[in-house]
Amino acid sequence: MIKIAPSILSADFANLERDIHRISAADYVHVDVMDGMFVPNISIGIPVVKSIRPTTSLPLDVHLMIEQPVRYVEQFCDAGADLVTCHVEADTEENLRAALEKIRAKGKKPGIVLKPKTPASAVLPFIDMVDIILVMTVEPGFGGQKFMADMMPKVQTIRGYIDAMNPGCELEVDGGVDPATAPICIANGANVLVAGSSVYQAEDIPARIAQLRG
Ligand code: DX5
Ligand code: ZN
Repeated sequence: MIKIAPSILSADFANLERDIHRISAADYVHVDVMDGMFVPNISIGIPVVKSIRPTTSLPLDVHLMIEQPVRYVEQFCDAGADLVTCHVEADTEENLRAALEKIRAKGKKPGIVLKPKTPASAVLPFIDMVDIILVMTVEPGFGGQKFMADMMPKVQTIRGYIDAMNPGCELEVDGGVDPATAPICIANGANVLVAGSSVYQAEDIPARIAQLRG
């Protein structure tokens, strides 16, 4: 089954509860956390996750674009995150393992994320520890960028790793996903699609979510 995770980075932050209700036909709420260091932008953090938690029954898919996520993963779990993904570029292997273990110990789903320049093989040290792997299809930091179709071989390679080594693991893509690029992601093995601008700019949001799901 294909899951859709609208990114609230494209929502109206002055009307966040309304905009979360508008995506109730989706599968996850994707929450982009940026620290101004790991990526050249600052977005939202722990208090916002805590505030939106009671507004929806959908799982919160928290994408941490922060340096050394091990410092904060437990606080995001306590604030109500259900899935917490950490970039492999954001710390040492040892500290990333510790972050994933902390998320698991909180009863939540740990995941890892790869930036576009990071090879598929970077997932291998963590593949047996994660419930989700996220492949960026844009450089992280901003919504509304162009989909990088050249990430598809990486998605295919990671689909192969997952099928062989951790078949329950989800494979998510993030960046530039719209009705034209979603089928490409699905054909290459992704099963969770993040979409910010293409969902929030749609006239009919439930119809757009259904269209992306295919
Ligand atoms: C980018 C974020 C994405 C972003 C996607 O750093 O991780 O989740 O919101 O936005 P669109 O779908 O507009 O590319
Ligand atoms: Zn994201």
